[in-house]
Amino acid sequence: MNIFICKVCGHIEFNAAPGNCPVCYAPKEKFEQNDKIFIESEEKSKEAAPKHIPLIQIIRECHLIKEQKCTDVLVRIGEVLHPMEEKHYIMFIDCYLDYKYISRVMLTPDVWASGLYHLKKEGKKVTIVERCNIHGFWMAEASV
Ligand SMILES: [Fe+2]
Repeated sequence: MNIFICKVCGHIEFNAAPGNCPVCYAPKEKFEQNDKIFIESEEKSKEAAPKHIPLIQIIRECHLIKEQKCTDVLVRIGEVLHPMEEKHYIMFIDCYLDYKYISRVMLTPDVWASGLYHLKKEGKKVTIVERCNIHGFWMAEASV
């Protein structure tokens, strides 16, 4: 699959670069194609995988958005919980539905490496992308 990375904010787009980055609004020219970005992270630090591959949980009955149909996507980073420290932390977690960008959760060392998205739309596949300030980009997918 074609993967494009925004050089300004690190946002990833699948298939094609957007007119403007949906996160930081940088123009198309700021996107760089690198279809191997996830493979590169894994190859650089193989032992890091258990602390970086997102774990995805799908919950159909939302207890917050009771009035509407909602699919909850819960994410934690790492089967072994990723540290959240000033020098080493997860910067953001991006959520995609059928490879279309949905939303970003920005993180700081003051929260656990986790995210939650309340999806309005129905789809087939959720993709989660996370960026570690030291170990780069990692992803995981789940059926919804
Ligand atoms: Fe890391």
